[in-house]
Amino acid sequence: MCGIVGYLGNGDAYPVMIKGLKRLEYRGYDSAGVAILENGDLKLYKCKGKVADLENLVEKSSKTGGIGIGHTRWATHGVPNDVNAHPHLSGDQKLALIHNGIIENYASIKAELQSRGHIFLSDTDTEVLVHFIEDVRAKTGVPLFEAVRMALSEVHGAYAIVVIDKENPNQLIAAKKSSPLVIGIGSDDEYFIASDATPIIEYTKNVVYLEDEEVALIDRKEGLKIVTIQNQSKTPYIQALELKLEAIEKGGYDSFMLKEIHEQPRSIRDSFRGRINLQHGIIKMSGIDDHKDKWIAANRIIIVACGTSWHAGLVAEYLFEEFARIPVEVEYASEFRYRDPVIMPGDIVIAISQSGETADTLAAIELAKERGAFIFGVCNVVGSTISRATHTGAYTHAGPEIGVASTKAFTAQVTVLYQIALAVAQARQTLSQDRVTRLMAELNSVPDKVEEVLKTNAIVETIAEIYKDSRNALYLGRGYSFPVALEGALKLKEISYIHAEGYPAAEMKHGPIALIDEEMPVFVIATQGQSYEKVVSNIQEVKARKGKIIAIVTAGDKTVKELADHVIEIPKTDDSLVPIVSVIPLQLLSYHVAVMRGCNVDQPRNLAKSVTVE
Ligand code: AGP
Ligand code: GLU
Repeated sequence: MCGIVGYLGNGDAYPVMIKGLKRLEYRGYDSAGVAILENGDLKLYKCKGKVADLENLVEKSSKTGGIGIGHTRWATHGVPNDVNAHPHLSGDQKLALIHNGIIENYASIKAELQSRGHIFLSDTDTEVLVHFIEDVRAKTGVPLFEAVRMALSEVHGAYAIVVIDKENPNQLIAAKKSSPLVIGIGSDDEYFIASDATPIIEYTKNVVYLEDEEVALIDRKEGLKIVTIQNQSKTPYIQALELKLEAIEKGGYDSFMLKEIHEQPRSIRDSFRGRINLQHGIIKMSGIDDHKDKWIAANRIIIVACGTSWHAGLVAEYLFEEFARIPVEVEYASEFRYRDPVIMPGDIVIAISQSGETADTLAAIELAKERGAFIFGVCNVVGSTISRATHTGAYTHAGPEIGVASTKAFTAQVTVLYQIALAVAQARQTLSQDRVTRLMAELNSVPDKVEEVLKTNAIVETIAEIYKDSRNALYLGRGYSFPVALEGALKLKEISYIHAEGYPAAEMKHGPIALIDEEMPVFVIATQGQSYEKVVSNIQEVKARKGKIIAIVTAGDKTVKELADHVIEIPKTDDSLVPIVSVIPLQLLSYHVAVMRGCNVDQPRNLAKSVTVE
C-alpha cells in the first residue's frame, strides 16, 4: 500500500527520491524515510508524518550520494512512528530495506532470530525480513542478491522490497510478490525503481515491470539481471511507458480530487471513444468480440470488486440483467475468496479495479481461475497486476487517479460496464437494435450532461455549508440509484469522517427510519423514471419525521421541489445512465464538506489508494 522509490546512477539520489515520494504519497502517508549511500557512509532519515516532514528533517544534513531508497508507509505492523518508519536496517547496520506488503510468517522467523541473539527495534514485519536476509548471508556466505532470493523463498505473504548494502554502492536489489514494482532504465546508466511509474516518467520512458516472485539485481557495471525465486534466469522485457506528466499533476486545482471530479466529461468520453460507433449502431470491444461464444452461452456473471469498484459492479448488475438477461451476483472480493464459492460451467467472472492491484480482488480472481471460470478485467491502470491476471478485459481509460477517494474511475467503470452490457445484449439479441442505438446515443450525450451538472457546484457548496457539522447522514436511492446512494455515503465517510449510510430507499422503513429526526440530513436520488413515485413517498416518510431532505432531481421537477429542503437539478437522463450523472453532485458535496471541516481530501486518514494487503 505504500510508496517505494529507489535510484542508482551518476546523479544525486536524494532529489529523485523526494520528488518520487511526493508523487507516491497518495499510496500511503503515515511516515516516510530515505537511506542514501555514499563512500561507505549509509545515511538514514525517517520520521512519522508526511514527506514534507521528512524534508524538514533532512534539510540541514548532508544528503549527497548516487544510490538511495525511499518509502512512504501505510502501517500494518506497529503504529506509525519514527522507529517503525522505513527503511529498516539489519542488525549489523549494513543493509537497508524498504518494503510494501505483509510478511505473514514474520513472527516465527523473528522468534528464531531472537533465539540467536537478534535484537529488534521496531514492531514491523519488515525489520524481521532485513535481519533474516542478513542471517542467510552470514550463514551461507553467498552474495547479497542470492541471500535475498534464498530468504524470500522461505517467506509467506506479499512484498515489494528494495535493499541496499553499505559495503556495495554499485547495486540495488529488488523483488516482488503481489505488490507492484517497476524499474526505469534511463540513459547514462541511470536506474529508477518505484511502486508505480509516476516517479519515473520525467527521466525515462523505458520500463520493466517485475513479475511476481522475481528478484532483480541492478548493477552499475552489469546493468539489470532478473531471476525467479526458484533461481531461473529471466530476460527483462522493456516496455515503453505511455503515461504523461500533466496527467499526474494538479493542473491549477487545489486538490487532485477536485481536478479529477472536473475531468469527468473528458474521462467518460475517453472510456467510450473508439468503442461505440453510432452511425452503424455497433460497439467494438475486443474482450467481447474475441470471446463472443462465451458471452452468448453465459449462464451467470459473478462480479468481484471492493469499495467504489464494488458499487460500479452493483450498477452493472442492473445493467446486465436488464439488457442481456444474464443473472448477476456482485461479491465483495474479500468474502468471495474465503467462502467455498460454487463456480459452474458458463460462469463469467468480471473483476473491477481502478488500481488493478487490490489484493482481495486479485485473490478472488486467482480462486475463480483455479476453478475454471473465464475472467474479464475492468481496470484503470494499464499493465497492472489484475489486468495481466485476467483472461481478457477492457481498460477504463480514465487516466491516473491520484485522489484516494475514487471519482472519475467510478464513472469510467460504469461507462465501460454499460458498453459491455450493451455489446453482450446485442450478441445475445436480448435488446432490439433500435433500443441499442438509442441507448448508445444517450451514452454519447452523458459527458455534456456531466458538464452541466458540474455547474451546480455553487448550490452544492451552499448545501455543504449547512450540513458540514452533521454527525450522521443517510443516502437513499432505488433501482439504478441505489448503488449511487452507497457511493455517495462512502465518499462522505472517506474524506470528511462523517458517519454516513447508503440504503435502498424502500428499506429505510425496515430500520434506519428510527434514526431520523430534525438533525438528520437525508440525501435522496429522486430523478424522474421508473421508481419516481415510490421515492416521492419515501421522501414524505422522512419529512413526516422532520428529517432534512436534499434531493437530486430531474431538471424542472416540481413535486420533489415542494417537499425537499434543497434540490440539485440534473439533466433528464435514461434511468440506466442516471448513476453516472447523479453521482457528480454527491462527489462535489463530500469534497466541499471535507474542505470546510479542514480535512485533507486527497489523503484522508487511515486510507491508501492501492490496497495491496488482504
Ligand atoms: C474509493 O473511494 C476507495 N478509496 C476504495 O473503496 C476503493 O474503491 C477500493 O479500495 C478498491 O480499489 P480498486 O478499485 O483500486 O480495486
Ligand atoms: N508491513 C510493513 C509495515 O507495517 C509495510 C507496510 C507498507 O506497505 O507500508 O511497516
